[in-house]
Amino acid sequence: AGEPDLAGRHVVVSAGGTREPFDPVRFLGNRSSGKQGYALARTAAARGARVTLVAANTGMPDPAGVDVVPVGTAVQLREAVLKAAGDADAVVMAAAVADFRPAAYATGKIKKKDGQEPEPIALVRNPDILAEMAADRARPGQVIVGFAAETDDVVANGRAKLARKGCDLLVVNEVGERKTFGSEENEALVLGADGSETPVPHGPKEALAEIVWDLVAARLD
Ligand code: C5P
Repeated sequence: AGEPDLAGRHVVVSAGGTREPFDPVRFLGNRSSGKQGYALARTAAARGARVTLVAANTGMPDPAGVDVVPVGTAVQLREAVLKAAGDADAVVMAAAVADFRPAAYATGKIKKKDGQEPEPIALVRNPDILAEMAADRARPGQVIVGFAAETDDVVANGRAKLARKGCDLLVVNEVGERKTFGSEENEALVLGADGSETPVPHGPKEALAEIVWDLVAARLD
């Protein structure tokens, strides 16, 4: 740390995991803790950026000097990120956004009925926020970063996802039963649309965050 190389820049970071409710007390969710996104927000602020952190169900205290926008669902996260991205130099989508949400929402708690099989939960697709933002950039030269958790063929799957999403950088994590989620540490490979490959050794999420901002800063005009 030291150089305020993001001074005068506005960056948007999404963190946490969306929850997709199907009645007032239940939701479909995921295990994302939000720690990587918070590390990204803190390190960007320390490097001088104005930071908007769109936080989905993280339950962590707001980092100092960061504008936090709390959200619940993927649809809410999309609204908040698109709004903040309007004047952003960079957007980093570290949040685990649900690919699907329940098709219906019951306004009363769903009850079990004696002798009856449960109703299946029908799902519909959520919008792909990252792909949408990359395809229609809010400003020219905006740098867009995605995250991907892969269990196998990290490079091949990562390259395919980078191309599909159309973002500039994709941070690929190898996930397993005891890796990444909720942990203080991370290990990753950052793939660039320019063909670059930056391995990030196992270490604190702050260290990965610094490398992401180095790569972003190098791509800002
Ligand atoms: O397709 P997949 O969920 O693996 O992609 C992960 C990346 O895409 C993350 O950066 C995540 O924030 C973003 N994403 C999104 N909208 C979705 C699903 C994922 O922006 N509906």
